[in-house]
Amino acid sequence: MTPPSQGVSQALARITASRTTAMTDRAMALRAEGRDIISLSVGEPDFATPDHVIAAAKAAMDAGDTKYTAVGGTARMKAAAALHFARDLGIAVPPGQVTISAGGKQAIFHALLATLDPGDEVVIPSPWWVSYPEIVRFAGGTVIDLPTDASGGFRISPDQLAAAISPRTRWLLLNSPGNPTGATYPAAELQALGEVLRAHPRVLVLSDDIYAPLRYTPGRHATLAVECPDLADRILTVSGVSKSHAMTGFRIGVAAGPAWLIAAMEKLQSHSSGNPSSVSQAAAVAAFEGPQDFLAAWCERFRARRDLVVAGINAIPGLSTPVPDGAFYCMIDAAPLMPRFGDDDALALHLLEHGVAIVAASGFGGRDGFRISFAADEARLTEALRRIAAAVG
Ligand SMILES: Cc1ncc(COP(=O)(O)O)c(C=O)c1O
Repeated sequence: MTPPSQGVSQALARITASRTTAMTDRAMALRAEGRDIISLSVGEPDFATPDHVIAAAKAAMDAGDTKYTAVGGTARMKAAAALHFARDLGIAVPPGQVTISAGGKQAIFHALLATLDPGDEVVIPSPWWVSYPEIVRFAGGTVIDLPTDASGGFRISPDQLAAAISPRTRWLLLNSPGNPTGATYPAAELQALGEVLRAHPRVLVLSDDIYAPLRYTPGRHATLAVECPDLADRILTVSGVSKSHAMTGFRIGVAAGPAWLIAAMEKLQSHSSGNPSSVSQAAAVAAFEGPQDFLAAWCERFRARRDLVVAGINAIPGLSTPVPDGAFYCMIDAAPLMPRFGDDDALALHLLEHGVAIVAASGFGGRDGFRISFAADEARLTEALRRIAAAVG
């Protein structure tokens, strides 16, 4: 029996720990035992953080920039984030409508916690990023699952959205390019979703564009705040440096939205992390203000790896994947293998036994498949594909 002192809150009891982190931890533990495991479960670029970013972090420490900052980030950091939103996403926003947090994750956490009341509904297309439904449940909200599949490009339709919205709907969470599917919404589809949202003025939209610089189809990135400017006063756009600039460990995320929501998020942040790390903010300023030309080269590397994985997976009987347009994930369908393995968790464990760590689709609200992160070098991807083929062959 659990001792009375060890009871967790009802809010915590409503959520489960991240399945992606669990698989990564498991792969690390097996490696520590001496097993040869290729981990394709983690969502971070394998590239080194750019030198000029590291130099800026060191310079900040040497200059004594090691104290508390303003709750929502330094003026310099907010200006750099506003530059990023305008230059990279096309969202013109004054620095006062921008806030900085410890990773994009904290921005999303604070936005939802600051606005959800018990019973409020949050519409989330699935397969989804693991943290969305857990944060919603922690905040007391109700998750409304909007399932998508490969045949529809893992994107929701306007009709689907219209049918999911109720008087209790508070948020729609959109993620483009998406984790775990790579699905990327074209401008026309966002405009059509915006048409539905116009009829529901209480609904806020969280547009998670953290993977926007990692796209493989030529042309500009489309985002709801630009496609539907009349809705901008209820859109929170989240971005950051974690994925684009290989800075996951720095923990800096940025968000742009209406002033009341930014103020609400900062009110909460003033009592949670207090402020984002001063050193990390200096590094993120360098990331946004410094050279961006390496991004094109990184994208090319990711595109080559994507093509390698897509071709390799589609050549394995029982497995198939569409070609993702962005981010660095493939959502693989393994439905034909389910009679043999039972469910996708069992398949994930079987693949781990064969030396490859991936995450089962059910961890993302999907089914009968798994996600591969192709943010690994070509040699490891090739060997992983060989092991997967051997494991299910
Ligand atoms: C879709 C999505 N949004 C947000 C985040 C959070 O990123 P950060 O590391 O900046 O907190 C992630 C990270 O995995 C992600 O995949």
